[in-house]
Amino acid sequence: MCGIVAYLGEREAYPVLIKGLKRLEYRGYDSAGVALLDNDLHVYKKAGKVSELEAFVADKNINGNIGIGHTRWATHGVPNDTNAHPHMSNSGQFALVHNGIIENYAPIKEQLQKSGYVFHSQTDTEVLVNLIEEVKKQEKVSLEDAVRIALNQVVGAYAIVVIDKENNDRLIAARKGSPLVVGIGEAEFFVASDASPIIEYTKHVVYLDDQEYAIIDRDGTFTVKTLGNVEISPFIQQLQLDLESIEKGGFEHFMLKEIYEQPKVIKDAIRGRMNATDGWIKLGGVSEFANRINNAKRIIITACGTSWHSGLIAEYLIETLARVPVEVEYASEFRYRNPIVNESDVVIAISQSGETADTLAAIEIAKERQALVYGICNVIGSSIARATHAGSYTHAGPEIGVASTKAFTTQVVILTLMALQLAQQKGTISLSYLRQVLYELDNLHVKIEATLKLDSHIKEIAAKIKDVENALYLGRGYNFPVALEGALKLKEISYIHAEGYPAAEMKHGPIALIDENLPVIILATNESAYEKIVSNVQEVKARKGIVIAVVNEGDTQIKQMADYVIEVPKTEEVLSPLITMIPLQLLSYHIAVMRGANVDQPRNLAKSVTVE
Ligand code: F6R
Repeated sequence: MCGIVAYLGEREAYPVLIKGLKRLEYRGYDSAGVALLDNDLHVYKKAGKVSELEAFVADKNINGNIGIGHTRWATHGVPNDTNAHPHMSNSGQFALVHNGIIENYAPIKEQLQKSGYVFHSQTDTEVLVNLIEEVKKQEKVSLEDAVRIALNQVVGAYAIVVIDKENNDRLIAARKGSPLVVGIGEAEFFVASDASPIIEYTKHVVYLDDQEYAIIDRDGTFTVKTLGNVEISPFIQQLQLDLESIEKGGFEHFMLKEIYEQPKVIKDAIRGRMNATDGWIKLGGVSEFANRINNAKRIIITACGTSWHSGLIAEYLIETLARVPVEVEYASEFRYRNPIVNESDVVIAISQSGETADTLAAIEIAKERQALVYGICNVIGSSIARATHAGSYTHAGPEIGVASTKAFTTQVVILTLMALQLAQQKGTISLSYLRQVLYELDNLHVKIEATLKLDSHIKEIAAKIKDVENALYLGRGYNFPVALEGALKLKEISYIHAEGYPAAEMKHGPIALIDENLPVIILATNESAYEKIVSNVQEVKARKGIVIAVVNEGDTQIKQMADYVIEVPKTEEVLSPLITMIPLQLLSYHIAVMRGANVDQPRNLAKSVTVE
């Protein structure tokens, strides 16, 4: 939530900042702003998208080779020009951009008001920049010391960058709980919430750790210290990311590009981790903790949103294949309900961004209670990847569309490998079945390619139902979580109210919704429950619902009853979510586009949810 970018060097800062903000816009798009330091400090900010800020500054002085920028996802205060970042201190000397939440801002604000400070915005950020100013004044210390002392007084999460009107040679950046990366170029520095604004200038980066801050100077000095004022040697990493992976590459939207990337990223997710012929699986971190994982009394999976849905699929996979009890918990509930967790449990935390605040908090609880915590993350070097004892990256590449697509499928791939590996260790599956599933997984990209070829047919179905107000998604077994995820995809990008249900639950309530206007998307690829799904289709048709059925190629029975069918290649039932999810992603995408919605940046959402 919220994107931060900063520059110090010989270039003009504004073009670097504005381009960086556009790359970070997926993190929030309620307002945007920049502060540029030339002979004077110029702060420009505007409610709305980065493009609105760009139009606003068109006739303004945008000179300066040091500056900070921000794109906001509102927490404290409505999205308007005043609440937009950067925020200035009362004297006008300091400007600050912030991602996160200062939880104790209210008492600090009250104290500052007593000392005469005036607040123009409703934000916690304006409190922080004035606290820094007050500390500097009262303690008669440098800006660096004032930032450190102030940050030691605040409770909450932050990534910040501060700029001083009196010193155009220095930036100060700090983090706790929100990500921050520093790019080190030739006589120039970049700071950003992720590496996407940095990648085209340098591949050398330092990821700040929690409770660390960086002092970045024009003369090339780059110092990293802890909030306890201890200097540490920064670890300079080489970025693996390339520019192409963060651009649209000819697609109209990132979401569509990411849907189409699924055959490739699935291959990336399994590369080097399995061999179908020899029947082996090797997931990072699993062998190191093999004893604890293989002997886990229980597996608890914790995540949010789409990642929680992939966790639900894992519950079916692990219990069916490895016969280990699994519980799947919303991280936001887990963290506050005093859960029973102990050292014989393994907790799997799933997160695309690796920054979700609730998931991070759930991990801390699991660690406090001595459980082994295994992370499944997409973003390399993210907070969750670092907070867990071991883990596997999904290798889906940057996911920029706010609606998660390829991250979901790669999470399911990793969880499938985990379930199979555990089953092999526990002796609950035969080698021949293991090989059969691995062989199918190895070749699944071909079937996903074939499913993507159904795009124009799915688009035609989308055109028929685009104006509905409600939709129901039904699935059984492995396809039940897919129904939930299909409904989430539709509601979040097209704003159509949609619900996912286990198909058999329909008769316990949702059946009342069915009339001739309600599309019911039924996932009907499960061979083990086929006859039961046929009955569900009949129940919907008897009430005149519009049935859109996802069936296996060659299906005859449901094809005759449904209004629309999407025939997908048949696969092993344990792998079916990896196929059935694809048409649901495409259906949501086309409906949202036809309704004129902003597919990549749906209203009120942000890609990385770093607040509770
Ligand atoms: C929906 C979506 C969200 C995320 C959720 C968790 O398309 O993307 O529901 O899945 O916010 O995010 P991560 O996986 O980054 O922890």
